[in-house]
Amino acid sequence: MKFFIDTANLDQIREAQDLGVLDGVTTNPSLMAKEGIKGEQNIINHYKAICEIVDGDVSAEVISTDYAGMIKEGEKLAALHPQIVVKVPMTKDGIKAIKYLTGKGIRTNCTLVFSAGQALLAAKAGATYVSPFIGRLDDISTDGVALIAQIVDMYNFYGFETQVLAASIRHTMHIIQCMEAGADVATCPLSAILGLLNHPLTDIGLEKFLADYKKVNG
Ligand code: G3P
Repeated sequence: MKFFIDTANLDQIREAQDLGVLDGVTTNPSLMAKEGIKGEQNIINHYKAICEIVDGDVSAEVISTDYAGMIKEGEKLAALHPQIVVKVPMTKDGIKAIKYLTGKGIRTNCTLVFSAGQALLAAKAGATYVSPFIGRLDDISTDGVALIAQIVDMYNFYGFETQVLAASIRHTMHIIQCMEAGADVATCPLSAILGLLNHPLTDIGLEKFLADYKKVNG
């Protein structure tokens, strides 16, 4: 399972990259706004800066909602850097844009996916990634991880190549559940990734190893 970090914060992206297990980055307009990145040129520069930090795919989302605007913006974003994957919302125009961009050899990430039917359309349009938002489903008392499992089964059954990118991950247990469900990618906050490191028996064991070493070595 690949690990992407879901942030536009350069320090957090660097920290995850330094850990040596990072496979990519996802951003969205809310995450860019959270970092105070505004204005077309600043946004472009920020995407380039992210691409310089990481080796893997970097999702950059279109703002347009109409087909013509989406493909124009998508082509511009894709031209910024070979690592850019164009993130397109799950709408009628979005599906058409994904089909067009795929035909041009541009990789896409279909975002704001909340049902298996939407994921089916994304795969048929040729999306590189589909992003079901599991945390937001959990927020409305619907099982987000169950949707990941359903989409994974459907894609495997029909042989779709679209990768299931579990998004809106809120905590470490979500990562474990997405792994069990067979997600290709989990895009996570840094805190959820770092949470995987923790186990009290590791801390206790290390403390004892060091104490025993000191007993004989001083
Ligand atoms: O990857 C999508 C993600 O950024 C949305 O997360 O926590 O706003 O639902 P959240």
